Order: sequence, then C-alpha cells, then structure tokens
Amino acid sequence: MSDSLPLLFQPLRLRGLTLANRVVISPMCQHAADRGHATPWHMVHLGKFALGGAGLILTESTAVDPRGRIGTADLGLWNDSQIAPLKAVVDFVHAQGSAIGVQLAHAGRKAGSEPLWEGGAALSDARMAADEEPWERLGPSPLAAGPGWSAPRALDADGVASVVKHFVDATVRADKAGFDVVELHFGHGYLVASFLSPNANHRGDALGGSRDNRMWLALEIAQRVRAAWPAAKPLFCRLSAVDGTLDGWSLDDSVVLARELKRCGVDVVDCSSGGLTEERARCPCRAGWAFRCRSRNASGARRKCPRRPSE
Ligand SMILES: Cc1cc2nc3c(=O)[nH]c(=O)nc-3n(C[C@H](O)[C@H](O)[C@H](O)COP(=O)(O)O)c2cc1C
Repeated sequence: MSDSLPLLFQPLRLRGLTLANRVVISPMCQHAADRGHATPWHMVHLGKFALGGAGLILTESTAVDPRGRIGTADLGLWNDSQIAPLKAVVDFVHAQGSAIGVQLAHAGRKAGSEPLWEGGAALSDARMAADEEPWERLGPSPLAAGPGWSAPRALDADGVASVVKHFVDATVRADKAGFDVVELHFGHGYLVASFLSPNANHRGDALGGSRDNRMWLALEIAQRVRAAWPAAKPLFCRLSAVDGTLDGWSLDDSVVLARELKRCGVDVVDCSSGGLTEERARCPCRAGWAFRCRSRNASGARRKCPRRPSE
C-alpha cells in the first residue's frame, strides 16, 4: 500500500478482519423493519454504503429483546427467524468488498419512542400495550428518562441475568448471520448507559453506588459477549463519553471504563455523547452547558468558565 495514500483510505487490521479502508458508517435507526426482520429497505440502505466503498458499515441499533426496542420497526436479533433476512444483507455487503457490523442494543428506560425525525417523543403506555410485540421500560432504578416518559421497572437479579443472556444470544445469531463486528450499544441513555450514570442509577446493591459497581453490567456483558463471539472477530462498544449533566457520567469515567473494556477483549470504543436525559444541565455560571462551558466576555470573545477552571 502506497504511503502517499491518505490514512483514511489505507486498510485497517482488527484481529482477523482487514478493512479495505477506514471509512465507517455510523449506526442509524431506520424504523423500517418487519417485527424486527430486515426488509428491502435495509438492503438498499446498508447496501448503498457498500456500493460506495465504505470499509465498515454498522447496522442501526438492533434490539436483543423486543421489550427493549428504541422505537417501532427497529431491527432485532431476539429470534432465530431474524437471522436469514440480515444474512442476505451481510452477503450483499461482503460481495462488494465491505465489512459489516451489527449494533446490539437494549433501550432500557428509553424503550418506546417516536422516530427521531418525528421528534423522538416517548410512546404512551397505551400505545406500547397495543403493539403486537411486547414493550417494557426497564432500568436500574424507577426513575423516568424525562418528562413524558413513564418510570421503568427496576431490574432485579434475575432481570439483570436475562439481559446479559439476551446480549449473548443475539451475538450468537449475529455470528450465524455472518457479521464481521458486534458493537455493544452502551451509550445514549439506553439500558447499560443508565446503569453507568449516577443520574439514573440510584441502586443500593452491588450494581449501584460506586463507579465500579455501576460499571459491572457493562463489563459483564462485554466479557460474556466476547466469550461467545469468535476470537478472530472484533468487538466494539459505543459509549456516551459524557452524559452532559453536572454530576453525571464524565470523560474521566469513560477513560477508566475504556481501560476495563479493553481488558475484557473490546477492540474499539466508538465515542458518542449525551442521551441520558433530554434536559442538558446548565453550568453553575449559567453561561453554557455543564459538560463544556465556554462563556463569553463583555466584548463577545470566548473565555473559559470561571466556575470550572479545570476545563
Ligand atoms: C436518524 C439517526 C439515527 C441514529 N441511530 C443511531 C443508532 O441506532 N445507534 C447509534 O449509536 N447512534 C445513532 N445515531 C447517531 C449517529 O450514529 C451519529 O453518532 C450521529 O449522527 C453523530 O454523527 P457523528 O458521530 O459522525 O458526529 C443516529 C443518528 C441519526 C441522525
């Protein structure tokens, strides 16, 4: 490979997978599945990025449990019948020379919402009850995600174990579908992110309180999925590197978690941010947002926040 080629277009080796280039398509919810099954929409949506030559294409958030779908018509891998339609997409993408990963997710207390382009509002409990697939908002504690959201049911030990099993079972199905990468969705305020954040996790047991306790579910899922996923295939995790609230999950927390995820065999941390709550917190100086306050002086120039001099 010529050194003169920009790095973006040079191959990247991750375990046994070599990407043709470093262009990676971010996961994007499509709300076009048929009871979790991929449809022609997914073939066109994901296939067009392969025709364009992307090195790696990530599917939208794909539910490991129908109760934890983000929205209506999400992709799923909670059932064996969902393998074949996804495999057809995977085979098409491979035939174009691209790799493809599946983003596995449980929406937790943010299960049941309108598509983002329709505002992303919470579905009502009545709307969720009327659906042909079961929905249930689950979380570490019975704290609603925000105004308009019903409070989740706090998971007990059996519930936590079944969430871990759903991630592992979906991983086995992802391998059968031929995916090259699994990405665990631990960001955007969904189930695992809500366990990480002290804003959503008020538990008094071994899964709440200290940062180590709040990280337990993320690390357990990562370890168990790594054991079920072929050693030659890379494992990614998506994190919200900051919650964007004053006292929430922070960048320092993400650095610690990333080190632990690496020890569990995670190869890539895919950084995003926010999503835990719809209300972004104001900095105490009132001039900017909590996670990165940049206020302005009298002449309009940007200055560092006087209340958070370390930033
Ligand atoms: C319509 C739409 C759907 C999205 N769905 C997902 C998703 O399923 N999973 C996810 O992790 N991020 C999702 N995102 C976030 C994107 O993957 C991406 O991180 C975001 O658009 C910001 O782009 P950037 O990361 O290139 O800055 C979605 C974004 C949009 C606009």
